[in-house]
Amino acid sequence: MHHTGDAERIKQLREELELHNHRYYVLAAPTISDPEFDRMLKELERLEAAHPELADRNSPTQRVGGDITKNFPVVAHRFPMLSLSNSYSREEVAGFVARVEKSVGRTRYTMELKYDGVAISLTYRDGELLRGVTRGDGEKGEEITANVRTVRAIPLKLRGRGWPAEFEARGEIIFTKERFARLNAEREQAGEELYANPRNTAAGTLKNQDPRLVAERGLDNFIYTLQGPELPTRSHFANMLKAREWGFKTPSPERRFIGQADDVDGIMAFIDHWDSARHGIEFIIDGIVVKVDDLDVQEELGLTAKSPRWAIAYKFQAEQAGTRLNGVSFQVGRTGAVTPVAELEPVLLAGTTVKRASLFNADQIERLDLHLGDRVLVEKAGEIIPQVVGVEREHRPPHAARVIFPHACPECGTPLIRLEGEAQHYCPNEHQCPPQLTRRIEHFVARKAMDIEGLGGETVEELFRAGLIRNVADLYDLTMEQVLALGKGWGEKSARQVVDGVAASKAVPFEQVLYALGIRHVGETVARKIARAVGDIDRLMGMSKEELTAIDEVGEVIAESIVDFFAAEGNRAVIERLRQAGLQFKSSAGVGPVSNKLAGKSIVVSGVFRTFSRDGIKEAIERHGGKVSGSISRKTTFVLAGADMGPAKRAKAEELGVPVIDEEEFSRMIVE
Ligand code: IVH
Repeated sequence: MHHTGDAERIKQLREELELHNHRYYVLAAPTISDPEFDRMLKELERLEAAHPELADRNSPTQRVGGDITKNFPVVAHRFPMLSLSNSYSREEVAGFVARVEKSVGRTRYTMELKYDGVAISLTYRDGELLRGVTRGDGEKGEEITANVRTVRAIPLKLRGRGWPAEFEARGEIIFTKERFARLNAEREQAGEELYANPRNTAAGTLKNQDPRLVAERGLDNFIYTLQGPELPTRSHFANMLKAREWGFKTPSPERRFIGQADDVDGIMAFIDHWDSARHGIEFIIDGIVVKVDDLDVQEELGLTAKSPRWAIAYKFQAEQAGTRLNGVSFQVGRTGAVTPVAELEPVLLAGTTVKRASLFNADQIERLDLHLGDRVLVEKAGEIIPQVVGVEREHRPPHAARVIFPHACPECGTPLIRLEGEAQHYCPNEHQCPPQLTRRIEHFVARKAMDIEGLGGETVEELFRAGLIRNVADLYDLTMEQVLALGKGWGEKSARQVVDGVAASKAVPFEQVLYALGIRHVGETVARKIARAVGDIDRLMGMSKEELTAIDEVGEVIAESIVDFFAAEGNRAVIERLRQAGLQFKSSAGVGPVSNKLAGKSIVVSGVFRTFSRDGIKEAIERHGGKVSGSISRKTTFVLAGADMGPAKRAKAEELGVPVIDEEEFSRMIVE
C-alpha cells in the first residue's frame, strides 16, 4: 500500500482545503471554483475512510458534520461571559465616556458592530479548536463543538504564528440575511412553517443534535474579543487584527466594521454612520459596541455585577411598520395571567412578516385607546418580539368598536381579578381552568425543567383531554397501558418513550425541580440560587418571607409568591406525591462552604444515617475533599458507620485495624 504517500496526501489536502475555506468564507475572495473544492474534499474523505488511524477531529471533512451529538455537556467558562449595559442616546454615551474619564482620564475607544446572533466561546489549544461553548448563564454553557466545527468562518487550525498556547476567541454566531432568507424559501417549498427570527433560529440550530443539519444551514461568525493570559498586544483593536492573521473572521476596518475614537464626537460619528448604513450590510446588527481599547485600562475600570465598566452598547431605534388591527385575542398562561394579543394584517417588519403582537395588559389597551380596525404602528423589541406602540387615530374607521378587556376568563368563565399594584389580570381558577393546568404541566416537562423526552405540548394536551393527567404528579402514575389506550398514533415505542422519559426525570437535580414547579416569579436562575442556598424543599417550605428575602436575588415579590405557593394545600399534596414518586428535593450541589478537611482520606460508608441520605453523606465527604471508596482495605482511612452496619464489615475493619466512626463524630469532623 502507499501508506506514507497517503499520509502525506491527506496532510496536503487538509492544508489546502482549510486555506481555500479561509479564502472563501473569511476573506470572501476564493481562488478556486466550487467543483474543484468539492473534488479535493471527496478525495480527502476517501483517503480518511481508508486510514481511520489518521483521523483528525479538526479535518476539513468534519465541517460537513459528523455523528449525532447525544447530549451537550455543561461546562464552566474559565472567564465569565458578561453582558453589556445598553444606551440609546448621545447623552447616555457621553455619560459613559464621562464615567470612564473620571476614573482613568482620557483614553481611546474602539467601536464595533453589535451582531445580533448567539454568543460563542471558542477555546484553542496549540493552534487547534478544542471546544466551542455557548454563553449559557454566563458562568457555564453548553459544549457544542461538533456543531461549531461546521461554521466555516471559524478556523479549525490557526494560521500564521504568535498565538498563545491556549486562549479563547469569543464572538457571535449569526445568520446572514441571505442565508436566512434561503432557509425560509426552502421551508416554504417544503410546506414547513417559516422561521420568524434569525437570532432565535441560529440559537436553535446550534442546539441541534445533528451536525449535518447545522452544516447545511451555513451559519456565519464574527470574533469580537480574545481572552487569555498571554494575548499578543494590550490593544483590543490590534488584537482583532492579529486574530485576523490567525484566520478568524474579525470586523474589517476597510468596511468600517470597526473604528477608533478619542471622544464622544468620534464615537457618535461612527454610530450615526451605522444607524443609516446598517440596512445595507449582509447581516443584522442591533447596535454598536463601544469599548475602551487598552486592556490594562479595561482591567483598571473593572466590572459591575453583570457588565464591564469599560464597554457599553448603543442600541438602534427599532424599525416601525403600520398595519391594521383585525382583532384582539386573550390568552391564558400557566399562572392564570391573561395576555391580550393583537391579531394584525400581516406586515413586513425588519425582515420578517408580523401577524400578531403582544399588547401586554389592559392598561396598554387603554393607553393606546385601541379600536378594532385601527391602523397601528408595530415595532420589534430588540428586533424580536413585535409590539404595538401607537395608533394612527386619523385613520380610525367610523363607528369602530373599542377593544374591551373581558371581565371573565375566556377559557373557563371565572371572573378575572387584578392584584394590587399589578398590571396583569389573572384567572383565579388555578385548579380547574384548562389552559392553566396544561401549561403548568407543559412548563414542568420542558427541557430546562424536568426535561421529559417524548412529552411536548401536544402530548400533554392529549393526555389531559383523555383525563389521564390533571397535575404534574399524575405524570408519575402513568402506565404503558393507559398511554397505549389513547389509540391512534400511539404504539409500543412512543408509549415507552413517554413512560421511560417520566421515570428518567426522577434524577433531575433539585435546582431544576424547583424551577419546574412553576412558582410565579421563580425563574431558572432564582430557583438555582434558592436551591443552593436552602438545600432542600422541607426547609424551603418552612421559611418565612423574611428568611426568604435574605437570600441573594430574592426580593419581596418572589418571597411572597413562594410563601403563597407552599401555603396552598393542593400544592403541598402534589409535592408530597412527587416526593413519593422519588423526585429530587435536596440539592446535590449541597449547601454551605466546601473545605479540605477530608483531603487525602479514603472513606468507606456503611449503613443508614439519621441526618444524611446515602447519597448525601457521600457528597458531604467529597465536598470536603475526601474520597468515597467501596470496600474496606488497608488504605481505608476510616469506616463511616450508620445504624445497622453489617457485622461482617465491622469484623473486617477490626481485622485490618481501620477505625470505625459514627455519624456524630463525622459531623464534628466536617463542621469544626
Ligand atoms: S463584547 C464584556 N462585542 O452582545 C462584553 N459583544 O450584551 C463582551 N455582542 O453577549 C461582549 N456584538 O454576544 C461584544 N462586537 C461585539 C458584540 C457583542 C454582539 C453580543 C455578545 C454579548 C452581548 C452583550
